[in-house]
Amino acid sequence: MNASPGVQPLIPPQRDLFELPRDTCYLNAAYMGPMPRKAVAAGQDSYARKGQPWHYQVQADFFDAPETLRDRAAHLFGTSANDLALVPAASYGLATAARNLAPDAKSEILVLAEQFPSNVYVWRELAAEHGARLRTVSRSDSQSWTEAMLAAISTATSIVACPHVHWADGGALDLAAISDAARRQGAALVLDLTQSLGVMPFDLSAIQPDFAVAAAYKWLLGPYAMGFLYVAPHHQDGEPLEQNWIVRDKAEDFARLVDYADDHAIGARRFDMGERSNFQLVPAAIASTDAMLDWGADALSATLGANNRSLADRLAPLGLRETTPDRAAHYLSLSLPDGAPANLVAELASQKIYVSQRGDRMRITPHVYNDEADFDRFVSVLESLL
Ligand SMILES: Cc1ncc(COP(=O)(O)O)c(C=O)c1O
Repeated sequence: MNASPGVQPLIPPQRDLFELPRDTCYLNAAYMGPMPRKAVAAGQDSYARKGQPWHYQVQADFFDAPETLRDRAAHLFGTSANDLALVPAASYGLATAARNLAPDAKSEILVLAEQFPSNVYVWRELAAEHGARLRTVSRSDSQSWTEAMLAAISTATSIVACPHVHWADGGALDLAAISDAARRQGAALVLDLTQSLGVMPFDLSAIQPDFAVAAAYKWLLGPYAMGFLYVAPHHQDGEPLEQNWIVRDKAEDFARLVDYADDHAIGARRFDMGERSNFQLVPAAIASTDAMLDWGADALSATLGANNRSLADRLAPLGLRETTPDRAAHYLSLSLPDGAPANLVAELASQKIYVSQRGDRMRITPHVYNDEADFDRFVSVLESLL
């Protein structure tokens, strides 16, 4: 690491820990993160074990492994394992939040314009069920999402459901300020951290959300169909989406499962998805999460931020403009110049350079495995196409 006094040390490129061919320039973590080699190996090993299920051990595989994952994931949120549930998707975590919130009739549930659909449909349904209203908060070009959200929060607000970073334009929200405003109105705060957790500092004690979810398959470099749900202590005796037998009292005793139990395991465990012991995904998710915790969100944010700053400076002369106020350091989403080819992203992909397009923006999201050779090639190929 390049440490200098008072400055967050930068992480050197970690390409060797990933299976990334040299001719592939993958700048698309916001779409799908690659799993590190160690996580891939853990996943392959877990499939081999499923071919010989007589080796499974009840305590180790059904209980200890998911607890290890819960504990690691809790560190990402800055909390303890008791506050975390294992879920298969952001949508599942958000549905759990909705199941446990009851907005007053005529109150407003606030979401951002063009927010990711997993954090919109569920609120549409809840609003309809309770006679509340879903209100979409837009921002003007010069306004940040924080300013727009703070202006929208009012005595009518019952729930604020938003991300830390907008998935399309990369705008970051000041969640402590939003939480403060929401709390003053007695509104609940539900967060989708899928585009930020692990690569952006998250101060749980300052933000105090009611619920916060993150899918693991993007920035967290984990397997698909795995995610983590933070549940604030005052919601932990709430209603889970499923009646999952393994989170009931004394579930460890497989011989006596039909001695049906009313009590749940402590904390947020009652919200775990069915089959949460997930022998195929849990070992890979532990390996990915361990890697993320080793690097740390502060160092990752500083490193990805420095890389993106320099990339944005090199792309500006090509007409790709930074137009998002309060852009998150790890997230580049640049407006394309007039006359940019409609098939630009496909052209880049044909040269093994991978980015996304969201509306009229190019979303460029490098991670810890990218290096200068990637950035040089991306800039020079873009130069030839624009
Ligand atoms: C902000 C955000 N949340 C969630 C998801 C994934 O949602 P789910 O896990 O419900 O499929 C995405 C995927 O692009 C996303 O960008």
